[in-house]
Amino acid sequence: MKHLIILIIAITVLSCNSSEEKRELTAVSPNGNIEVSFNVSAEGQPFYTILNNKNVVIDISFLGFEFKDAPDFDKNFIIKKSQIESHTETWKMPWGEQELVQNNYNELKIFLQEKISPERFLTIAFRVYDDGVGFRYEFPEQARLSEVEIVDEHTQFNLTQDYNTFWIPGDWDIYEHLYSTTKVSQIDALKYVGHVNLAQTHIPVNAVNTPVTMVGDDGTHLSFHEAALIDYAGMTLAVDTENLNLKSNLVGSKNTPYKVKRSLPFNTPWRTIQITNNAPDLITSNLIVNLNEPNKLGDVSWFKPMKYTGVWWEMHLGKSSWDYGMTQDMSTWTDPGKSNGTHGATTENVKKFIDFSSKNNIGGVLVEGWNTGWEHWIGFEDREGVFDFVTPYPDYDIDEVVRYGKEKGVDIIMHHETSAATETYEKQQDTAYALMQKYGMHAVKSGYVGKILPKGEYHHGQYMVNQYNNAAIKAAKYEVAVNAHEPIKATGLRRTYPNIISREGLRGQEFNAWAEDGGNPPEHLPIVAFTRMLAGPIDFTPGIFNIKFDEYKKNNQVNTTLAQQLALYVVIYSPVQMAADLVEHYEANPKPLQFIKDVGVDWQTTKVLNGEVGKYVTIARKERKTDNWFLGSITNEKSRTFEVTLDFLDDNQNYTATIYKDGKNAHWDDNPLALDIEKIEVNKNSKLTLHLAQGGGCAISIIKN
Ligand code: NOJ
Ligand code: CA
Repeated sequence: MKHLIILIIAITVLSCNSSEEKRELTAVSPNGNIEVSFNVSAEGQPFYTILNNKNVVIDISFLGFEFKDAPDFDKNFIIKKSQIESHTETWKMPWGEQELVQNNYNELKIFLQEKISPERFLTIAFRVYDDGVGFRYEFPEQARLSEVEIVDEHTQFNLTQDYNTFWIPGDWDIYEHLYSTTKVSQIDALKYVGHVNLAQTHIPVNAVNTPVTMVGDDGTHLSFHEAALIDYAGMTLAVDTENLNLKSNLVGSKNTPYKVKRSLPFNTPWRTIQITNNAPDLITSNLIVNLNEPNKLGDVSWFKPMKYTGVWWEMHLGKSSWDYGMTQDMSTWTDPGKSNGTHGATTENVKKFIDFSSKNNIGGVLVEGWNTGWEHWIGFEDREGVFDFVTPYPDYDIDEVVRYGKEKGVDIIMHHETSAATETYEKQQDTAYALMQKYGMHAVKSGYVGKILPKGEYHHGQYMVNQYNNAAIKAAKYEVAVNAHEPIKATGLRRTYPNIISREGLRGQEFNAWAEDGGNPPEHLPIVAFTRMLAGPIDFTPGIFNIKFDEYKKNNQVNTTLAQQLALYVVIYSPVQMAADLVEHYEANPKPLQFIKDVGVDWQTTKVLNGEVGKYVTIARKERKTDNWFLGSITNEKSRTFEVTLDFLDDNQNYTATIYKDGKNAHWDDNPLALDIEKIEVNKNSKLTLHLAQGGGCAISIIKN
């Protein structure tokens, strides 16, 4: 379907207008299963409740704000007016997990006013979907309020069960933590304080970051997050372990006595609760992207979803260095004019990646450590003015590399490690993106390692939310797409700005190369698929074949089987998907490499065939251009056997399935490389039995005959 007709029907079903409404207001999801109710208490406090299949999932939860130098905004309200509107829409993702997205909801809007001076106005909007609820505060233009300084937002989520919860701490500076699995009543985020291997971290209270996912004894699945985080602070959720109550705790700043400052009119981000009766439906939920505004960039076909390799893992393994003139551990300066002999981003090395990528259907090569400044990277206080994003080291000929890439049909992916020196980066963005445009480079990986400069700001506060968003909006003007590391969380802005392609924002593969706590355990990705991945695309960087890499690091390894590394290309979604290992490790293993060569990166449809949070998940995706299918299945430290039916395949079509599965006695630690490859003919009536080893996986390419 090339030309899609976008259909929007908005019918006003009910609109009440009275000087004061007293009754409870409700809205239900299109299928009637989820119901939101809203009212104000005797003291005029706004509150809401949510039912799922008639069961209370969010009990009376109050809403409001605390302001600096102005009365609190959380009571003395009356309902002036309310309205309900139905919305039905189908929109098209320029790239994504699926091509067409249904956006169907009923919206309840409540117009409040304080009944005592200063009689300010506030609107609260709830959108009720079949897969959950989003709500936000809307501050309309008004005579007695022109600007707010928000000390904190007091949004409650009052739970009715002590859910089994998959959480990371509410760190204001980084999301790169391992998940804990505990009851809500057992959440103890402060145990993460002072964790090793983080260049910045700040966990002020017992709070969690979102998405945080919960599973109830009755099978209810909830995931809390936010959508459309624009010009506002990121929200963590403070946990009241006794009363099973979550409360918004916005990320602050040491530089201001408030957390958010805004002029009216404005809307807050949407507070979201995905509500499903099973784990797979969480992954197929489009609630977060749907709550964002439609595409503002128009045609972004200059960005092509792609697999990429890069001068990257070799630095994390210690085979080469980002910088040009320091010793390997970056502690001793040798001679700024002379190469240390281990610099990774040399013309010659990059050409090797280009050759390999070109031969293996891989569209891009990421080059880290190409520009001057790395000598002053980690651990330096004074990082402003160090990186300039246009000056290559003497052994990197950027003209030649780009020319060679073009000859071989491979794009160079730019790298901007800002080192969190935001003023330097902001000043140089135009020059840096213009350089990319000149070379026809359409994707940049940016990085924000270290404590934010200016001092006192945190990665997830309002100042940084604006840095990340403005960088992406500016980059779009130069036809540049952004994959940020150490980013702000994804909140579905890719719908509005589809040049926001991917991001880190989790404990990625790199931790397996150097973390002092043993790397990512086998349960990590079966948790990530149902938590972080609900927010949006992940630059996880899969595809490590040399699982143990003893020749580089004896005490580190990847904690999965090789088959699972392949399965991740399907399970973890990103429109840019790295083949992260070294060229020599791929060339020594042509058989599994074939899967990376074949696998798609841009999808027509996604089906989640099975899954339990933290345990396992199996996903099948149909590639947009070819109509071929790919299936990935991963498990935690338990081995499992699944029956899967291929009834999602097209009618009257035969396919050749190549199955990459854990071999006999495969095991993530004892025997990770044992891999069997089998080829069979399949069609939509076929059934397959998948055996996954401990920490294992299965990857299948299903190619049309
Ligand atoms: C941290 C990023 O996550 C990693 O991918 C990158 O190589 C380094 N920063 C250097 O920018
Ligand atoms: Ca990182």
